[in-house]
Amino acid sequence: MLPTIEWQDDVIVMVDQRKLPGQEIYVRCRTAPEVAKAIRTMVIRGAPAIGVAAALGIALGMRRSTAKGTRQFAVEFQKICDLMAATRPTAVNLFWAIDRMKQAFARGAQAGESPEELAARLERESRSIHDEDVASCRAMGGHGAALLADGARVLTHCNAGALATAGYGSALGVIRAAVEQGKHIAVFADETRPFLQGARLTAWELVREGISTTVITESMAGPLMRGGEIDLVVVGADRIAANGDTANKIGTYTVAVLAHEHSIPFYVAAPLSTIDLSTPDGDHIPIEERDQREVTHLGASRLTPEGAKIRNPAFDITPYRYIAGVITERGIFRPPYSESLRQAFESAALKT
Ligand code: MRU
Repeated sequence: MLPTIEWQDDVIVMVDQRKLPGQEIYVRCRTAPEVAKAIRTMVIRGAPAIGVAAALGIALGMRRSTAKGTRQFAVEFQKICDLMAATRPTAVNLFWAIDRMKQAFARGAQAGESPEELAARLERESRSIHDEDVASCRAMGGHGAALLADGARVLTHCNAGALATAGYGSALGVIRAAVEQGKHIAVFADETRPFLQGARLTAWELVREGISTTVITESMAGPLMRGGEIDLVVVGADRIAANGDTANKIGTYTVAVLAHEHSIPFYVAAPLSTIDLSTPDGDHIPIEERDQREVTHLGASRLTPEGAKIRNPAFDITPYRYIAGVITERGIFRPPYSESLRQAFESAALKT
């Protein structure tokens, strides 16, 4: 399986997603600030993947700590958590993972553990977060694959694949699982301006597995839908609010409105760690505004004239009413989301 991120001895290794598909280069992070920088600069991206990276980065940082006692160790821990939390604002998986690490730390501190014992506990917790993410993706795939008929033509936006998770993928996990069941699936991958996650990453992942992939620019989705060439849309998510409003890569909202117009079911695939019941609706989700250069340039080439104003919101909100279902590791949840998403957590609490 595609290694998105791995802990190897005393380094965290991740494939540099900015360089794919042209070059397969691995970045080796030796410190927590290096991991934070890798998240901020999108060496690693995708909501679950950045949560996993933050957890591994925190554990790496604390393993390298030279703190003399637990008090100093706790101060360092808080600093590293703050550093990770400041990397990207929209994907809630990042904050969820940091919170899990804080809870693990609190359990160890309460048990009177030494800095070495606490560091070992944090490492175990980060590895669990990594492994659970892969298991969640596989479970999501199992549930979601039933939605895809043999021969289905599926549109996806951005990259919600193995590269965006610890492995296997959320939206692409659903597609992978259907293919593993022997179904013939044709994928249409939106290019996803300006960072081109669809053209570069989704297409790279699917082509290397022999899954039929057609890359289109965003503006082509409408006419393809109108022409009856798309049966279903499945995308990932960066944060799902309590009412089902969903933040995902910029352009997702447009796809959802188009799908609604053409009566094409639009699904979101995401683990429970992406669902944020403390955020009531999409208006309360912080939207990251990224560097203008992502819009003004393609590689080294300038696309826009000097003096033009530029906007670069990295995410948008798809209102819950456009979403046919949320595919999670606990099954597929349907409207009304203000009830069903809450129940998803209740069933998780019962089973764990
Ligand atoms: O800016 P990115 O590349 O981190 O944005 C990623 C997305 O929007 C994905 O669709 C989302 O994180 C789901 S990944 C399983």
